[in-house]
Amino acid sequence: MTTSITQSPLWQGLEQQSARLNKLHLRNLCADPERFSRCSLEWDGLLLDFSKQRIDGPTLDLLRQLWQWRDGPGWLARMITGEPINHTEGRAVLHMALRAAPDQAILCQGRDVMPDVAAVLDRMEDFCRRIHQGQWRGAGGEMIRNVVNIGIGGSDLGPKMATQALNACQVPGLKLHYVSNVDGAHLAATLADLDPATTLFIIASKTFTTQETMQNAASARQWLVATLGEGAVARHFVAVSTNLKAVAEFGIDPANAFAFWDWVGGRFSLWSAIGLPLALAVGFGNFRRLLEGGRAMDRHFLTAPAEANLPLTLALLEVWNTDFLGAQTRALLPYSQSLELLPRYLQQLEMESNGKRVDRAGQVLDYPSAPILWGEAGTNGQHAFYQLLHQGERLVPCDFIACREADLPLPGHQALLLANCLAQSKALMQGKTLEEARAELLAGDASQGQAAALAPYKVFPGNQPSTTLLLPRLDPYTLGQLIALFEHKVFALGVLWNLNSFDQWGVEYGKQLAKQLLPMIEGQGDITDLDSSSAGLIAYLKRS
Ligand code: F6P
Repeated sequence: MTTSITQSPLWQGLEQQSARLNKLHLRNLCADPERFSRCSLEWDGLLLDFSKQRIDGPTLDLLRQLWQWRDGPGWLARMITGEPINHTEGRAVLHMALRAAPDQAILCQGRDVMPDVAAVLDRMEDFCRRIHQGQWRGAGGEMIRNVVNIGIGGSDLGPKMATQALNACQVPGLKLHYVSNVDGAHLAATLADLDPATTLFIIASKTFTTQETMQNAASARQWLVATLGEGAVARHFVAVSTNLKAVAEFGIDPANAFAFWDWVGGRFSLWSAIGLPLALAVGFGNFRRLLEGGRAMDRHFLTAPAEANLPLTLALLEVWNTDFLGAQTRALLPYSQSLELLPRYLQQLEMESNGKRVDRAGQVLDYPSAPILWGEAGTNGQHAFYQLLHQGERLVPCDFIACREADLPLPGHQALLLANCLAQSKALMQGKTLEEARAELLAGDASQGQAAALAPYKVFPGNQPSTTLLLPRLDPYTLGQLIALFEHKVFALGVLWNLNSFDQWGVEYGKQLAKQLLPMIEGQGDITDLDSSSAGLIAYLKRS
């Protein structure tokens, strides 16, 4: 039997650090004038400030030793040389190849994948040009004005988030829509305002078997055929998939299919043909800039020393907060309306990757893995859940993300947005003591008695850790950097927690049961063998 990492002197050393740091308050740590310069990293226009984390140099040194102990550099080498590090599915993990320089060879099972990557990118570019210039038109000869991407999970969240993030770069005259939910309300509401003659559908599914996507695709097809006839399908449907056989069976011309490969995980697939709707929305030049931003972050992750490495530092902070300070959740707070969908995108990236309970050897973990990620764009969240962050009882590490310049500027807005962002992290860090609360009340018009009575309600414990990530501005390049930053953080965490970050068996069980229950809900299956609770619900649903 192998001994757990938690029994190692390294882990125990970290536990001792947490006992020491738990006695300190962030307010005191941040009183040190050198704190910011010691606890912030700058790279290629990005600033990562972790001075408001409950951590210090000796602790970070130990965490970096943990990365070495887990053989972080070895796992990185195994990933980029195409070893099947997704061992439960026997797959390589090569999303970095999707944004690599075209003259770089990247091998998967001895074969260079880069010519295939370049060929698909070229086809995507050509397709975008034809749509934008009106060379690809609907069956009746009309320009395509609306594109509906039908996909779910990784085949939806990335391009949808990025399309909104790059709002400032939208190609005029073309509107993107994303349909994911099998609830008919999603597709019906989207189609309500569209004209089949000017609408193109992209059916995006890695497997081309996902029930929700197949149902939505079939309904979209019926909607189109009802007006334009069967012959119109070829001009109004294209597909993105690794399963080109299933694409052809659905009736989409293989000439109109864009491939990707099983070494691309769904939640890492934005850089592949899954990014086609994004490329249509913002133009292919901007899509290439996104890839360049991702590539720059790859180089940084692969070459920067641990002390200067942004993704690794984020991962070490997460291990610290989760496994040693006891945080169960993390709030992701982008102070950018255009990044409104980032929390949802990262929920899949982080929780589907590292929300696991067994290690690479199949042993149950004796330490917590991925925290629950949630969040909302600032300042909206301030008027919803921030009360709990300030005066609730839970430790909630926060990631603030902001841009120095606005992507869609209006006079007076950006400074106010940034002031709010900085005010929140400052308040969470320093809190407000009883004494300060009382003094503030007395400085107003409160009597001694009123001040004493009210002050306890106005105490803020503070000591709530946060990181602030500043981008110069939100553009395709910086968005590429940002997404790749979090991808590499997820990889590093998988190494630190000794997990396979690239499978998602937890999602499968629900899919399996939905298939079994569907006939029962449709009134054909026998419910007598079901558990009482599920049988009761189905019987109620079927009651007239
Ligand atoms: O949610 C499970 C999952 O397999 C994701 O990993 C994936 O992004 C999503 O379903 C959609 O899968 P597909 O692209 O094969 O339709």
